[in-house]
Amino acid sequence: MERRKLRNSELDRKSVEEFKNAQKTPLIVVLDNVRSLNNIGSVFRTADAFLIQKIYLCGITAKPPHKDIQKTALGATDTVDWEYCENTLEVVEKLKKDGVKVFSIEQAEGAVMLNDFQPEQGECCAVVFGNEVKGVQQDVVLASHNVIEIPQLGSKHSLNISVSTGVVLWDLFVKIKAKTYPNSSHSH
Ligand SMILES: C[S@@+](CC[C@H](N)C(=O)[O-])C[C@H]1O[C@@H](n2cnc3c(N)ncnc32)[C@H](O)[C@@H]1O
Repeated sequence: MERRKLRNSELDRKSVEEFKNAQKTPLIVVLDNVRSLNNIGSVFRTADAFLIQKIYLCGITAKPPHKDIQKTALGATDTVDWEYCENTLEVVEKLKKDGVKVFSIEQAEGAVMLNDFQPEQGECCAVVFGNEVKGVQQDVVLASHNVIEIPQLGSKHSLNISVSTGVVLWDLFVKIKAKTYPNSSHSH
């Protein structure tokens, strides 16, 4: 079997303009007071991969342009739409008013495990990720429609926030695709 690694030029990626014009996955990311610029950039890069609609940067979460965001975003701040808002709770309330289903991604009482969670067909979901030390603010968790937890079986309490974004966005992307195109065997 041929296993030659592909060159970047063979990956058929979108230009910034093609990305802007592409139909987006009905998923929104909210970053609640994320401290590390490298984590923020990494979330942008993952959001670009799955054609995420928008990222809300809240509280102390830094905004592009910044060289330490760029280090991990590698240009994804030019493709993915973003907006800065001081108050995470206000963003959550606005999204709910707009008909978006809001899920805090946290370890909390009554949380649904990611593997048991199914987005409803046709709904737009927002997923809120929290600060590296404090997590998602308690009032934001309470204001969300529900909480989704990533099961962990090892010794550490939690995952890095950008890693948890990768796990959740890929999982929801696959589930949304499967609901939107139930008879398709194609991954994209
Ligand atoms: C390093 S964790 C924060 C841990 C912190 N001790 C706390 O109280 O939540 C940073 C963020 O990553 C996400 N996260 C990490 N591990 C998770 C898990 N197992 N389930 C759900 N979210 C997780 C959450 O959004 C969390 O706010």
